[in-house]
Parts: sequence; C-alpha cells; structure tokens
Amino acid sequence: MDHQLILRNVTRTYDAENGSREALEDINLEVKPSEFLCIVGPSGCGKTTLLRMIAGLDYPTSGEIILDGTPVEGPSPDRGMVFQEFSLFPWRTVLKNVEFGLKIQGKRDIKRTAERYIELVGLTGFEHSFPFQLSGGMKQRVAIARALATEPAILLMDEPFGSVDAQTRNLLQEELLEIWKRTKKTILFVTHSVDEAVYLADRVVVMSSRPGRILEVLAVDIERPRKRTSGEVNALREQLLMLLGSHQ
Ligand SMILES: Nc1ncnc2c1ncn2[C@@H]1O[C@H](COP(=O)(O)OP(=O)(O)OP(=O)(O)O)[C@@H](O)[C@H]1O
Ligand SMILES: [Mg+2]
Repeated sequence: MDHQLILRNVTRTYDAENGSREALEDINLEVKPSEFLCIVGPSGCGKTTLLRMIAGLDYPTSGEIILDGTPVEGPSPDRGMVFQEFSLFPWRTVLKNVEFGLKIQGKRDIKRTAERYIELVGLTGFEHSFPFQLSGGMKQRVAIARALATEPAILLMDEPFGSVDAQTRNLLQEELLEIWKRTKKTILFVTHSVDEAVYLADRVVVMSSRPGRILEVLAVDIERPRKRTSGEVNALREQLLMLLGSHQ
C-alpha cells in the first residue's frame, strides 16, 4: 500500500450565531507516502479541523478526502492521532493507556506490543505509572506510543510538543525523526513554531486564517540531520515568517 492521501476542494463550514462560519476553504493537497508534512498557520485557521477530518472524526461540508483511492468516511486504525490536549486516560496506567487502541482492535499479544512502543519512546520502567506521576514530556511520549501502537500508516499530530520546555521539545523532535525513519510513516504535524517546522518537515504547508486557506507549500530541501541555526535554515525561517506576516 502506498497510503496516498489526497484532499480535493475540501471546505468546512460550521453553524454560527449569525449564519455560518467558514473554517476551511478549498483545501487542495496531495501528501506523499512516507512524507513528513508540517502545517503552520495562525490560531483558528482550521489546522485541528483539518486533522480531525483526515482522522474521520469530522467531515468536509464539500470536497473530498481520499486515502488509497477511497473516500475517508470515519476513523480507522490506519490513521492515528495525537491530540492537541493531552488525551490520556488519567485513571489508567501508562501500559493500559498504550494498550487501549490495541484492545479495541481485538489484537493479540497486546501487552508485548504495548511494551515495545513504550520502549520506543523511552519510557520503559514507567509502565505502571499513572499520567499524574509523569512530566508533560513523558505524557506526550505516552500519547505518541499509544498512537503508534496500532501501527497506523498515517500519523496525525496536533501540536504534540506545544506544552513542553524547549530542551524536551528538541529531544522529542529528534526522537520523532528517528521513529519516522524507522517506521516510514506518513506524518502530518501541526505546529505554531516555524523553527519546529523547518527542523522536521519535508514540506511545510502555510495557512491563512478566516477562512483557512493554503497560502503556500514550501519544500524544505535541507539534508538531515539539520543544524537549527544554519544559513539555509534561517533563510527558510525568514521566508515562513514573512508568509505568516508575524513575529513569533
Ligand atoms: N465543532 C465546531 N463548531 C463550530 N465551530 C468550530 C468547531 N470546530 C472548530 N470550529 C471553528 O473553526 C475554526 C478553526 O478551528 P480549529 O480548531 O481548527 O483552529 P486551529 O487552527 O486548530 O487553531 P489553534 O491553532 O488555536 O489550535 C475556528 O473559527 C473555530 O471556531
Ligand atoms: Mg488547533
């Protein structure tokens, strides 16, 4: 399977107090298999809405989302999502949180699989901890392990590192790149950070707000591992900031 994801003329309108609000307008995008795609744009431009529609948790008002030639009609194990807010079950241990999706799928050997992904994100030893006993970065790792455990072809990540300190964030970015290299997943990664997008992405989708539209898709043709402050990285950051028309 190639896991080709195509968005064609996708528009999403919500009912508002006085009429309707257009959250996304005419989104066209072809995501390449195994691509690392970052999405940046101002708050409220529809990034979460876009990921939720690809996950099958929301639906376009018009247009279509096509995965491997078939329209997306609901959630499926081939798409895993890491949500903007921590969405761990507070009353379940790390192990039980990671096992959750596997259980729903009726998989065998769920404990062994969950343990493998807990190891992958560097949390061996914390299987029996509860979320409240973990740091923000560790919780994020659990959310990533849980999303990876069901082996989705496409990983949808909504500002997954937004609430951790800069050092942890850099570390998590490197870990994610390692996981991506090893698993060859397609990753759609929403971020507010231009730096993060330039460090991670093969391509960066820049969105405008009200209604959310794609302004531009920039290719990041910089070899990995990237230096966070090299000339070419800085040049691209400048370009992105100009497009966003803001000072981050
Ligand atoms: N269920 C909903 N009902 C009504 N309006 C909604 C709904 N979900 C999103 N919206 C609207 O759609 C627009 C886009 O919201 P969305 O959460 O996708 O933005 P975002 O780009 O993820 O913002 P942020 O960067 O702050 O997370 C907003 O104007 C929001 O009010
Ligand atoms: Mg959002």
